[in-house]
This record gives sequence, structure tokens and C-alpha cells, in this order.
Amino acid sequence: MNNFTSITDVKNPNKLVQQVPSIKNNGVESKVGKHKSLALIFFNPSLRTRMSTQKAAQNIGMDVTVMNINADAWNIEFEDGTIMDGSTQEHIKDAVQVISSYCDVMGVRTFANLQNQKEDYEEKVLNKFLEYSSVPVISLESATLHPLQSLTDLATIAESGIQKPKVVLSWAPHPKKLPQAVANSFLEWIVQTDAKIKLTHPKGYELSDQFTGGVPITHNQKEAFKDADFIYAKNWSSYSNYGQTPQIEKNWTITSEKMNLTNNGKFMHCLPIRRNVVATDQVIDQSLVYKQAKNREYAAQAVLKNILEDL
Ligand code: CP
Repeated sequence: MNNFTSITDVKNPNKLVQQVPSIKNNGVESKVGKHKSLALIFFNPSLRTRMSTQKAAQNIGMDVTVMNINADAWNIEFEDGTIMDGSTQEHIKDAVQVISSYCDVMGVRTFANLQNQKEDYEEKVLNKFLEYSSVPVISLESATLHPLQSLTDLATIAESGIQKPKVVLSWAPHPKKLPQAVANSFLEWIVQTDAKIKLTHPKGYELSDQFTGGVPITHNQKEAFKDADFIYAKNWSSYSNYGQTPQIEKNWTITSEKMNLTNNGKFMHCLPIRRNVVATDQVIDQSLVYKQAKNREYAAQAVLKNILEDL
């Protein structure tokens, strides 16, 4: 694997998914990362991605450096040809080439700005890393995708052993404007499996056709939940009215009453989660969220192992 920024970087996604529980059950392989280093670059906050990827790298013997760009580095300029006599001090072209000279693999987190759909969906920042890095690049969540999360989520579903599971991706409320990355990515990965996927969201929260093509969509959340094996909840802001949060009429919070409509379904969420907004305490406390969070470590380890073996 040369990079891990989308499912399209992976030759056999289902094989990679199977490697996650295998790593989890068979323990760590400490040699593959020996004398190799990983740089994790964050433009945005993180708990799970930061800690699980660090832990994964350490499990296989890698050294890890973490850089919080906005807090610790110079202000980065992204535009080419700019006369840099303003507030930016270092061009992305220089920063990425220097960072990649210090490591064997690089991870970068760069969220959508939700101001400009074209810039976000062209992955303006991530693509600068891909352009200027001389080492493989792993997405730690980009403007439109979160592949490490999706790999984890599919591995968590696979671990259940349910054949052809019925999976519902449900929009849920949130007080902030959030990107579509987790939802886009989940759809991109789940449609490659034997799962029966359904998408439910209020009107105005349609995702890009690029990710929903062929996926059944309903605006009736309760109808969608009937007989489901897994409910994956996530909030996202509008794609068409980009970054906005149109008003909705019904309450989309995931409750026990709604979960009771499922086939003893399991609740999933990538975390962090706003308790009693996205889902109630009772739903979260009986869910797979901690299993998902722990599986982030093994998913990152699977990705790092595949990248290091192809260096
Ligand atoms: N799910 C996830 O990516 O969590 P963090 O934002 O804490 O890394």
C-alpha cells in the first residue's frame, strides 16, 4: 500500500478488514516497524486517532513524533505564488518536504473548513501533502473521508460474525456544524461488503451522490431501524447548502425506544459523542463504542504494517 487516504488506495479492502481482528487476536508483531518512524501531523483536535495510531506504531516498534500544527508550528501558507508578507510564515510545500525528510511514514488530520464545498471536496490540504511528501501518507481524517475510522467500523461489524448484516447509517442531532467525512467514508467502505446498508436522514441533509449512489435512503428514521442489526449514528451538516444546518421537525436523537425497533441491534458511533443529544446515555452505555475505539489501534496497526511491507 503506497498511501492510505481512501478505500481506493487499498487493493483488497475486505482482506484488510479481516487483518484487524487477526492482529487483535494474535498479538503484536514488533519487528516490522523497527528503525522506522512515523510523524503524525494534526491541524485539528483528536483523542482516539492520535492515541490509537501512536500505540499501533509503538506496537510494531516504530518511533513516533506528533506535531500540532496550529499550536506548535509556524502559520502555514497553502496558496502557490503568494507574496508571503502577511501572517503566514511557512509554505506547505516547504513544511511537507521537511517533515517527510524526518520520517518513513506520515499521517495528517485536516478537517473540512465547511466554507467552500469545492475546496473541501477537492481535498485541497491533503493533496498538498500527497504532492510534496516523499513518504507514504495516511489520512487521520481529511475534509471528506475518515478511512481509519471506516476500517475500524467494518472490522467491528465483522467481529460480530453476523452474515449479511442489516446496517443503518442514521443522521443524529448535534449543536455544531460538522463535516460529512465519517458518513461519506462509512458508505464508501460498507458498500464493498455483503452488508445490507440503509441511510436515513432528515430532508436537507442529503450527502453527495458520489457516496450514496445505489444506497436506499429514507427520511423515516423509525422505519429504517426496523430489524436492523447495527445502527451507526453520525451527525453531518448539509452538503447541498454547504456546511449549513437546516431546521428539522422531528427529534432524531437515538433512544432506547428506537433501538427496540431493531433486531436486538447494536449502536455504533465513532466518538466523541454528545450524550443525550446524538443518543441517550442508555443507548451509549449498551453500545459498541468502546470496542470501536479500541479497534482503532488494530486498524492503524494493519495499515502501518501494509505500508511498511511495501516500502
Ligand atoms: N473517531 C475519531 O476520529 O476520534 P478523534 O477525533 O478523537 O480522533
